[in-house]
Amino acid sequence: MASTKVPQVITCKAAVAWGPGEPLVIEEVEVDPPKPYEVRINVMCTSLCRSDITQWESKVTAHLFPRIFGHEAAGVIESIGEGVVGLKEGDHVLTVFTGECTACKHCVSGKSNMCQLLGLERKGVMHSDQKTRFSIKGKPIYHYCAVSSFSEYTVVHSGCAVKIDPLAPMEKVCLLSCGVSAGLGAVWKVADISKGSTVAIFGLGTVGLSVAQGAKLRGASQIIGVDTNPEKNEKGKLFGVTNFINPNECKEPVQQVIKSITGGGVDFSFECVGDTDITNAALQSSCDGWGLTVTLGVPKTKPEISAHYGLLLSGRTLKGSLFGGLKPKSDLPSIVEMYLRKEILIDEYITHNLKLEDINEAFDLMKEGKCLRCVIHIAKQDQTIM
Ligand SMILES: NC(=O)c1ccc[n+]([C@@H]2O[C@H](COP(=O)([O-])OP(=O)(O)OC[C@H]3O[C@@H](n4cnc5c(N)ncnc54)[C@H](O)[C@@H]3O)[C@@H](O)[C@H]2O)c1
Ligand SMILES: [Zn+2]
Ligand SMILES: [Zn+2]
Repeated sequence: MASTKVPQVITCKAAVAWGPGEPLVIEEVEVDPPKPYEVRINVMCTSLCRSDITQWESKVTAHLFPRIFGHEAAGVIESIGEGVVGLKEGDHVLTVFTGECTACKHCVSGKSNMCQLLGLERKGVMHSDQKTRFSIKGKPIYHYCAVSSFSEYTVVHSGCAVKIDPLAPMEKVCLLSCGVSAGLGAVWKVADISKGSTVAIFGLGTVGLSVAQGAKLRGASQIIGVDTNPEKNEKGKLFGVTNFINPNECKEPVQQVIKSITGGGVDFSFECVGDTDITNAALQSSCDGWGLTVTLGVPKTKPEISAHYGLLLSGRTLKGSLFGGLKPKSDLPSIVEMYLRKEILIDEYITHNLKLEDINEAFDLMKEGKCLRCVIHIAKQDQTIM
């Protein structure tokens, strides 16, 4: 039964970033009721993704502060706006930074997840009216990717909330809201690799390790992991990496090493660091004729990619993907089910668990390369308003 109560403004705690690179401050914020086609979510758990750090540090978007970051999250719908279909109060959902309206040219294409209505939001506002739903004493607080999950409550478009099995533990499956799915989708959907393929992965954070996990499950014969952090050697093995290379320990460029050990280059390479020079190295590591490079990282600087044209003339392909090419509403619930059937690993990415008050510690851990995913526990699941 739909609720008859009219949602009111909620005052709650949120971690607000007042300026680029400045420590977050826990503030009391006002969260507006959901507007038409929107839902308000009681955020239970949210994990920190590298993309939050990249945008928080970036001075290019300094005009979008004060701001609430966070986009990898799970929660419970507290209230719904007019016209929302397929979601109701009490539903367990994952938030997504690229939504699925199910009706636009891209959503119906079967070829793309770049929804024209709910694609990546870069202006710090809601898609529908270009305004914020957060404020402090009347001053607007900007969103991040139209999700902003570092808050006890947030408002998202109903196309950016994916209903999931209520039995799924939110403190684990929140990771499927971005990084893990982005990696799995890049292998399964974008590269669509086949059994016996050879793979090189640059960057063994949560995204790169998810590429490894996806490649292992598809039966890749060789999974080469490249990372400057030696600790990623052991972690890589857990997710299927068969050969670990630390570029700092190589006498020749890493792409040469990969070519030597694979007899001319891998079938598939993946850039999961966020550095366009590494995209070039990944392209050079793939083989002539059919080598495919998928670039996933979001660069901090130097957004332009430069590569010798001969690499492409000799038959290589360079592709990119957001959210692993997955359509969130169509593809995500089945990945949650895979986790529940113990077919994919998620718990192994979680290196730290913290409370919202300690969120700056999570930022420090990721900046220093000391964590994979840190889950921020915002509300206890038994406190949920059902
Ligand atoms: N395309 C998408 O949909 C999507 C989704 C999530 C994250 N991302 C992006 O993917 C990238 C990875 O995200 P993450 O959360 O796994 O980050 P992370 O920081 O946990 O992982 C990055 C890894 O790269 C390694 N690294 C750094 N410099 C390197 C170098 N020169 N050579 C080899 N390895 C190096 C680090 O040691 C680390 O292990 C980021 O740029 C992030 O913004 C993209
Ligand atoms: Zn769409
Ligand atoms: Zn992310």
